[in-house]
Amino acid sequence: MSSVVESFMTQALTHRKDYLSVLDFDAADFERCLQLAAQLKADRALGRLAPTADALNGRHVALLFDKPSLRTRTTFEIAIRELGGHGRRRCSPTSRSARVNRSPTSPRNLERWVDAVVIRTFSQHVLKEFAASAPRLHVVNALTDEEHPCQAIADFLTLQEHLGHLRGRTIAYVGDGNNVATSLAHAASMLGVHVHIASPEAYQLPHMVVQQATSVARHGARLRLFTDAADAVAGADAVYTDTWTSMGQEREAEVRRRIFAPCQVNDELMSLAKPGARFMHCLPAHRGEEVTSEVFESEASVVFDQAENRLHGQKALLLMLLAPSAGL
Ligand code: CP
Ligand code: NVA
Repeated sequence: MSSVVESFMTQALTHRKDYLSVLDFDAADFERCLQLAAQLKADRALGRLAPTADALNGRHVALLFDKPSLRTRTTFEIAIRELGGHGRRRCSPTSRSARVNRSPTSPRNLERWVDAVVIRTFSQHVLKEFAASAPRLHVVNALTDEEHPCQAIADFLTLQEHLGHLRGRTIAYVGDGNNVATSLAHAASMLGVHVHIASPEAYQLPHMVVQQATSVARHGARLRLFTDAADAVAGADAVYTDTWTSMGQEREAEVRRRIFAPCQVNDELMSLAKPGARFMHCLPAHRGEEVTSEVFESEASVVFDQAENRLHGQKALLLMLLAPSAGL
């Protein structure tokens, strides 16, 4: 058994019930999650011989998705299976009556059958209520309108792999101050990474998120908001963008395309970042909108590393939340 996994097994890394937000972890939890994810990534080649191949010991994890997903859903399904758990799927964009917030008793039903539930839905508030009403159920946020904390684990695992160390680095996020930007800002601040976020005036990161990020910031990490993408990107170690129109905002797509046009990540913008700066995107990307094909396909692009690392990051997360209750 590898030493990191062994020490994990004996120390029961966290006794947190849920991961609804990066802020549900403290910096030590988040750093251990990254460390464990890196170890799980290395161990994956061992297949069934991996020390964590039966770590979940047949525990059940339900997947409830009120919005479409490729990466999150697929990687959670594989993660659960590779850790020896069982995934129960009620996915796909569901009928109205099946939405997470339509049945207040569903968490109390679910906790009688499953150990954890991975939820992608609209409102963070609904997700919090769901988690609060089922004290025995571990709840994981697979994306809400407000936060995407599983993405942030993969993002910083990827940055760590490419940059060697995180503390003191600068990441520039250019685009909508949305769920992905929020979780990125939370995690960056905790990890001692400076964040520059450039958005059009009415689409800036919410003030509450700035306050939250500031309150968890370590090692002098600074969060700065910009309206000019060039100012935000100057000297950055990585440039990140996301869709201009998130799921649920489709009717605003045309207006957003016009407003966000100056935020496109193209070769000219990338040239303002530090030499060797990486390009990041949570995917799915819209080439010709928030990023050009040239940047997306360039050597700087680490988008498929991010997609791959969703798997390793979420395996680490599931172990951290579930292994203590599995008696490991
Ligand atoms: N990045 C991400 O969450 O992708 P999916 O919407 O495909 O899950
Ligand atoms: N901001 C995007 C992220 C997709 C992974 C959305 O919410 O649709």
